[in-house]
Amino acid sequence: MARRRQLYEGKAKILFEGPEPGTLVQYFKDDATAFNSQKKGTITGKGVLNNRISEYLMMRLMDIGVPTHFIRRLNMREQLIREVEIIPLEVVVRNVAAGSLSTRLGIQEGTRLPRSIIEYYYKNSSLNNPMVCEEHITAFGWASTQDLDDIVALTLRINDFLSGLLLGVGITLVDFKVEFGRLYENEEMRIVLADEVSPDNCRLWDSKTGEKMDKDRFRRDLGKVEEGYQEVARRLGILPEA
Ligand code: C5P
Repeated sequence: MARRRQLYEGKAKILFEGPEPGTLVQYFKDDATAFNSQKKGTITGKGVLNNRISEYLMMRLMDIGVPTHFIRRLNMREQLIREVEIIPLEVVVRNVAAGSLSTRLGIQEGTRLPRSIIEYYYKNSSLNNPMVCEEHITAFGWASTQDLDDIVALTLRINDFLSGLLLGVGITLVDFKVEFGRLYENEEMRIVLADEVSPDNCRLWDSKTGEKMDKDRFRRDLGKVEEGYQEVARRLGILPEA
């Protein structure tokens, strides 16, 4: 592969300049961090699995008309994506109480929520990604009211579709985080799903046993982390590459 100019290195991914203007190459690393980088480690093979899982889920979402930054997978660890202006928000959707919601509000982990809840966090690691509300988002100009309307509509569609798709393979989508970007094309701006959708950003529990198949295995030292990610890929019908 030709050497590409590195533009940005994040905790789990690296972005390189793409082959054409307006494109980027997203490289998936095996590095894992938790609790805002206080815990660091490596999950062997995670990058390869997340590249495949995110490709698969973004393609399925595009099939139902959800716009994304994804163009195509290039190889085991890289995918070609459209360059977008990332909106500095982590959008979390919750269907079942877990993680910070359980800790903060004292709701027992595993409690099904009366309806899906959307939360916003300001993407700023030096501030520990604080939770914010719509008033903060629009007042500080991170997104307009129209952007937020689009984000909520897309997020709910993503949640409904992925919840059903995963339930079909015996996985409960407990919660997940997504990020959005602005895509400028033909003098128009569209909000599109960006970043990745993988077990790094979702809580995925076996629907029957409740077994965790996501990054909580790493966060909580449950062991068999890679196996959890592999099981998600296997159930989605994503076969190991020859
Ligand atoms: O920790 P918390 O319960 O708030 O996480 C909710 C969901 O958002 C989980 O699925 C977690 O994997 C995801 N998340 C993430 N990146 C963060 C924070 C949370 O992917 N920085």
